[in-house]
Amino acid sequence: MADPSLGRSTPLVPPLYQSSVYTLPDLDALDRIVNAEEPGFIYARDGHPNARALAADLAKMEGAAWAAITGSGMAAITAAVLPLVQQGDRIIASHRLYGRTTQLFGQELPRYGVEAVFVDTCDLKQVRAALEQPAKVLFVETMSNPLLRLTDVEALAKVAKEHHCTLIVDNTFATPVLCKPLDLGADLVMESLTKMICGHSDVTLGLLAGKQPDLFPQVNAVISIWGLASNPFDCWLLSRGLSTLPLRMQAATANAVALASWLAEQPAISRVVYPTRPDHPDHELAKRLLPAGAGNMLCFELKGGRDAVNRFLRAAPGVPFSPSLGNTTTTLSHPGATSHRYVSPAEKKRQGISDGLIRLSVGVEDIEQTKTEMKKGLQ
Ligand SMILES: Cc1ncc(COP(=O)(O)O)c(C=O)c1O
Repeated sequence: MADPSLGRSTPLVPPLYQSSVYTLPDLDALDRIVNAEEPGFIYARDGHPNARALAADLAKMEGAAWAAITGSGMAAITAAVLPLVQQGDRIIASHRLYGRTTQLFGQELPRYGVEAVFVDTCDLKQVRAALEQPAKVLFVETMSNPLLRLTDVEALAKVAKEHHCTLIVDNTFATPVLCKPLDLGADLVMESLTKMICGHSDVTLGLLAGKQPDLFPQVNAVISIWGLASNPFDCWLLSRGLSTLPLRMQAATANAVALASWLAEQPAISRVVYPTRPDHPDHELAKRLLPAGAGNMLCFELKGGRDAVNRFLRAAPGVPFSPSLGNTTTTLSHPGATSHRYVSPAEKKRQGISDGLIRLSVGVEDIEQTKTEMKKGLQ
């Protein structure tokens, strides 16, 4: 793919290869590329240079032997689970997951004869009990969405190994800057790249990475066959922002700590959830799991439920209601109406997802400006 017009120059910034297909000189070249005897690309759904470059950078960050880029975080979860299960298999999953993940496991997989059992993965006894019957997958989030319960990845990895079960960790809220689940013994790590790793809310992508090389070809086949692939422009944009990820995470984490303390003093707020605060159930684990800080996500609950949330949203539009996370500026979401909309009312109650609960994705801006804006909604 060398461009002769460049002479001996090479671009400092990796080029965007916005092509869905490549040309090949002959059938022998095609065979060698398919058989991995020489580098090359054929069809973008099977692989393209921008995804490959991004995967190599992210594999390094995660401490992985291989990484695959998918068209979304949900596609990465699908690409992780599909190669591991078949009809009649069981998977064990945390009972505190992103709503769509819960739906994938609880509604979609059973249609293909795969049973999902949801347990409290903060309680090792429950996990061991669930694994008394064989299971292919144990699935958890490092920090649960939205209420930030932490997973003792090291302990779960030991239990999973004892039971020959593949531990998959959704590390979206932590990012590899704060936690590297593979180093703690997880078999696979996935990230919604759409969030902090992108950081600019202009890309939808996912990552799946692992240490064992044998799963990689199966994952790639599933990505191509089920149509879970990424597009070059999104990968190019993501690569562009990757070098600032550690800086963004540090700055946003410092802002989140400051904002959590400030919010806890506001009379309109009944509780603040942030993993390093002494009233968080996992604050001790936070020291070990997240030594560099607990990230940019926090939750708070407004006294006055849904009406109070509506008043807040209307009075403080400078902290936009924008149901995602990881932007450079602070945004907020309402888990009950968005990420966990399709979770039953009883399940929401069990998890503590109330009508007054707001989830904040804290950005890297001057946090005093954010406080000033939020004050308008808290009067
Ligand atoms: C923890 C977590 N995992 C996975 C996903 C899915 O990612 P995507 O929206 O990129 O498919 C989300 C989306 O919000 C999430 O919050």
